[in-house]
Amino acid sequence: MNALHTAWEKLIREESRRQEERMDQDLWRPRLHIAPPAGWLNDPNGLCQYKGIYHAFYQLAYFQPEGGLKFWGHCTSKDLLHWDFQGVPLCPDQPFDCHGTYSGSALIEDDLMYLYYTGNVKFMGEHDYINTGRASNTVMAVSRDGVQIDTKELLMTNADYPDDLTRHVRDPKVWKQDGRYYMVQGARTKEDEGTVLLFSSEDKMHWDYVHRFRMEQPFGYMWECPDLYRLDGYTVLSISPQGVKQDGLKYANQYQSGTCFLHGDFRETKLMEGFRELDGGFDFYAPQTFLADDGRRIQIGWMGMPDMEEIYKNRTVTRGWQNVLTIPRELSVRDGILCQNPVRELKDWWKKEHRFEGAYSGPINPCCELDLTADGGDVKVVLAGGLILRYQEAKGIFWMEFTDPLLGGGRDIRGRQIGRLRDLRILVDVSCVEVFLNGGRDVCSTRFYPEMDQYRVEIEGSRVQGVLRYCES
Ligand code: FRU
Repeated sequence: MNALHTAWEKLIREESRRQEERMDQDLWRPRLHIAPPAGWLNDPNGLCQYKGIYHAFYQLAYFQPEGGLKFWGHCTSKDLLHWDFQGVPLCPDQPFDCHGTYSGSALIEDDLMYLYYTGNVKFMGEHDYINTGRASNTVMAVSRDGVQIDTKELLMTNADYPDDLTRHVRDPKVWKQDGRYYMVQGARTKEDEGTVLLFSSEDKMHWDYVHRFRMEQPFGYMWECPDLYRLDGYTVLSISPQGVKQDGLKYANQYQSGTCFLHGDFRETKLMEGFRELDGGFDFYAPQTFLADDGRRIQIGWMGMPDMEEIYKNRTVTRGWQNVLTIPRELSVRDGILCQNPVRELKDWWKKEHRFEGAYSGPINPCCELDLTADGGDVKVVLAGGLILRYQEAKGIFWMEFTDPLLGGGRDIRGRQIGRLRDLRILVDVSCVEVFLNGGRDVCSTRFYPEMDQYRVEIEGSRVQGVLRYCES
């Protein structure tokens, strides 16, 4: 650990003491969702299960709730629901990561935790910061206990990436397969096309470029946070593209996140097919997955959106923090569609339930779940008086609309073509709403900011049957 790291640690310790009391009183702190202890949170990083414990790291601008210099925050959990903050183990403290320890992933081997990430460096001067003015370094940090970082090693610089790329190469996701190591990284070419680079290695340290994945037609100028994994017999490539134009209801957010399938062995095939957005709400970006010890593929996303005006309207900014991660979601493929559902541990979280049929209205606990079966027919659910979740049978569209701008912090309306609605599961966690439709085939997520007396629900729908699940307080 060098002197700069020690200095960061001291500053963070002092700041946490200042923040603790403030956060305890904050009405919008979620109970289930991972939130930063202070400051700005973005992408999930280094997700893994290490010695039986779940670890979630995340991009953290500890001192700047509106975003700034990026560190890795860290928390751990035994059940994916109760998370304990563990500190800020990765700090920008080296010449190769001095302007941010950017996103990356974890590889567990021989009881060691290897964290691969992008060391971000920006140079002063006249630069466009696309083709010049920045360095994207691939770095490997090693931890012997999953808490402290013991070493950091620079593995690759821009000189090691293909020549036709801009300086934007980042977010290594690493895994081991068939006795070799593989890594994907997101990149922007000099032609302004997004792409994913594949590298391989025999020893985790020395990496060779293999090839790159692309779609038949260019799809945005930059792809961030790639992830490649096997799921129910499919090879999935997940990307977060930037620069994709809105197409009807699709691609309505500033940036997107979605998955493609690769047909054949990823070491040979290069063509990605069938991009499908992972989430149709306002707040979802840069997801990452990991393989749990029990074989489940679990995904966590950033429940936020970069480069949006909302960043300044999100109402927790004035309280010193901003953004959360999604509930961990179990992934599966059903009928060729990637499905996401809250991890099964969630069912043990709730202590009480109330069943109803047809219309229902009443107060709700700020942390609760509504499980509805619909069997077609229009359905309308109004949360906190100003967030309308509506299924329009005639068009097969599910709408998420804020009629109260203050409640939505600047968000307005999103729609998702879902076909017939059979069931919807709405998870409300204080300032977070995640809606899982038709067994997780479609998901819509958003933040919202109700006042304490606004926690209510009104449900309309003649064919609706429902369960409201909650805890006592
Ligand atoms: C995605 C992203 C990543 C980058 C990180 C920086 O939100 O832009 O590409 O590594 O955030 O915080």
